[in-house]
Amino acid sequence: MKTVLVTGGAGYIGSHSALALQKAGYEVIILDNLVYGHQDLVETVLKTKLIFGDTCDSNLLKQIFSTHEIDAVMHFAAYAYVGESVTKPAKYYRNNVVGTLTLLEAMLEAGINKFVFSSTCATYGLPETVPIKEEQSQNPINPYGVTKLMVEQILQDFSHAYDFRSVCLRYFNAAGADPEGMLGEDHNPETHLIPLVLQAASGHRDSISIFGTDYNTPDGTCIRDYIHVSDLAQAHILALKYLLDDGKTDVFNLGNGNGFSVKQVIEIARKVTGQEIKALECDRRPGDPPVLVGSGEKAQQILGWQPQYYTLEDIIAHAWQWHQKRHQ
Ligand SMILES: NC(=O)c1ccc[n+]([C@@H]2O[C@H](COP(=O)([O-])OP(=O)(O)OC[C@H]3O[C@@H](n4cnc5c(N)ncnc54)[C@H](O)[C@@H]3O)[C@@H](O)[C@H]2O)c1
Repeated sequence: MKTVLVTGGAGYIGSHSALALQKAGYEVIILDNLVYGHQDLVETVLKTKLIFGDTCDSNLLKQIFSTHEIDAVMHFAAYAYVGESVTKPAKYYRNNVVGTLTLLEAMLEAGINKFVFSSTCATYGLPETVPIKEEQSQNPINPYGVTKLMVEQILQDFSHAYDFRSVCLRYFNAAGADPEGMLGEDHNPETHLIPLVLQAASGHRDSISIFGTDYNTPDGTCIRDYIHVSDLAQAHILALKYLLDDGKTDVFNLGNGNGFSVKQVIEIARKVTGQEIKALECDRRPGDPPVLVGSGEKAQQILGWQPQYYTLEDIIAHAWQWHQKRHQ
């Protein structure tokens, strides 16, 4: 049985991917500093080894790699609040870049050479055309996006210089929850649209704010590509298999190629939850591109990725099931 170290496995996407790995027959070890992760979900759902620690801790990494037979690393651990990255860039460069480099150096030393990395559509910045393909130029407009692009560049250089192969997965908007209701999104603070809309549906907040209603889009609100977290998790399994089968270093977008506006999200959430959901129309936020939609064709062709839950109804229904269970 192959063993995978999952950094950030107590977080949202990492925990869903850890569950998918277990279902696919891999052994999972989680490394998480629990700054944002949920120990209870690792203990009750994943029931696997959780190492409490930080990717910046090179001694701990050395110890992990010398005491466990690890075949590959999936690296989700990062800080991911775009706004905070603007006001506290040092925190982001240290965690997302220095932490990742520390991990990569420990892997090199231990002779572990397969790495799946959580990158993001934020590395593209303002898109030239949509749907965005992998070849489009990357000009991130915030420090968070820059940290992810820096790691992508480090990984390219590593694959040229060393016997080291990686897959960068550039996610669009991760959303939804485990269809069986075992896991889901529970960020604090929460900044993602769908959980915020569901908080308004359940009365945990009064209303949802719509930032900008005068964009050049059919209903004037921003359009985003929502991708089900379980489909993201499946893409990680496929990326891992690709690397285990000697696939070369590469990058893939994970998007549905299909966008939904903020108003559409709220409307579908009203239908799914049966709740009114009060929406407030506010001014635009600086730096929000009007449309961000990604083409997942390359991942479909090369990795054989087939998203299962691409309707917004499914995504919101699974998120709602989880939200009610977690916040009852
Ligand atoms: N959520 C999205 O829509 C989205 C989109 C694009 C990319 N991403 C990327 O996907 C990854 C996972 O995102 P998420 O939404 O699951 O975030 P999350 O905050 O739920 O999970 C990240 C986990 O990493 C842990 N962590 C952070 N820094 C660490 C460190 N130095 N050492 C050990 N553990 C650490 C946190 O405690 C948390 O459990 C991140 O790298 C993020 O940048 C997320």
